[in-house]
Order: sequence, then C-alpha cells, then structure tokens
Amino acid sequence: MSEVLTKSAARNIFYGGTAFFFIVFVGLVGHSVSTVNDMEKSHPVTPSVAAGKHVWEKNACIDCHTIMGEGAYFAPELGNVWVRYGGREDAAAARDGLKNWIKSMPTGIEGRRQMPHFDITEKELDDLVDFFKWTSEVNTQNWPPKVSG
Ligand code: HEC
Repeated sequence: MSEVLTKSAARNIFYGGTAFFFIVFVGLVGHSVSTVNDMEKSHPVTPSVAAGKHVWEKNACIDCHTIMGEGAYFAPELGNVWVRYGGREDAAAARDGLKNWIKSMPTGIEGRRQMPHFDITEKELDDLVDFFKWTSEVNTQNWPPKVSG
C-alpha cells in the first residue's frame, strides 16, 4: 500500500463524495417539501390567521415580545401564550382572557413592566388570537420546554 494518495484515488474520493452528498441533498430537499406540504394540509393558514399576523406586524408587538424565540426579550414569549391561557382545555375562556388582557393594558402596577394600550378593534383582537392559536400548534419539538417560557 502506498503512503501517498495517488491522483486517481484523490479523483475518486472527489467524485464519490460529490455524488454521495448530492444524493443526500436531494433526499433532504424531498423531505422538506413533503413536510411543508403535510403541514399546510393539517395546519392551514386561514384568512383570520393571516390577518392576525398582519395586526401583529402593524403594531410591532415584536419590539417587546418574542414569538418562537424571535424578537425582543422585554416581554413574555407569545408563541405558546394560547397554551398558557388554557386554550387547549377551554378555547372560549382563553380567547376572552387574551382579548381582555390586551384591552386592559397598561396595568399601571408599580414596579412591573408595562405593556402599552393598543387601539385595536374587536375583529383585530379575534384575528390576533387566531394567529396565537395557530402559532401554538406549530410543531416546535417541545420548545420552549416550559409553558411559562
Ligand atoms: C412596549 C412593550 C410591549 C409591546 C410593544 C407589546 N407588549 Fe405585550 N406585554 C408587554 C409586557 C411588559 C407584558 C407583561 C406585563 C405583565 O406581566 O404585567 C406583556 C404581556 C402581553 C401578553 C400576556 C402574556 C402572558 O403570558 O400573560 C399578551 C397576550 C401580549 N402582551 C400581547 C401583545 C400584543 C398582541 C402586542 C401587539 C399588539 C403587544 N403585546 C405589544 C409589553 C409589550
């Protein structure tokens, strides 16, 4: 066995490696496409979910909050706020709770971080809640680990 790598061995490693990883790449792309297709079927973005995301963006809620870890760390994570408000057990109560919370801001409690008041219509509030519910149903592989997170 020779100590040095011959030219043809190097070429074979190059072509073999390229072919191998190209096949892996095609497989991963196929897997991503089928996962996204399945998600769109089982978890469709309804018009109210899309409208709720628009309300979220228009009011720059992300300036203080994170949603699935993205955003600012001033205020609680809201990707799982639907679960935190008990949406899985009692959807109607969670909806009312979330809407009332947003409507009753700011709390004015001394020493507590404050959320400003937003002039949001009843329809926009419902859309926001639909957006939170949809977000909470995305498979995040159990992230965040605690419902309070
Ligand atoms: C200026 C910063 C700021 C902005 C902007 C902001 N919030 Fe908040 N939000 C807070 C703070 C601070 C709290 C926690 C207050 C507390 O616990 O007393 C909070 C709490 C909440 C909660 C309750 C979370 C929980 O777990 O109890 C919801 C729901 C919420 N915000 C929704 C929104 C939405 C929707 C928007 C955009 C329309 C928004 N927030 C914009 C600061 C903000």
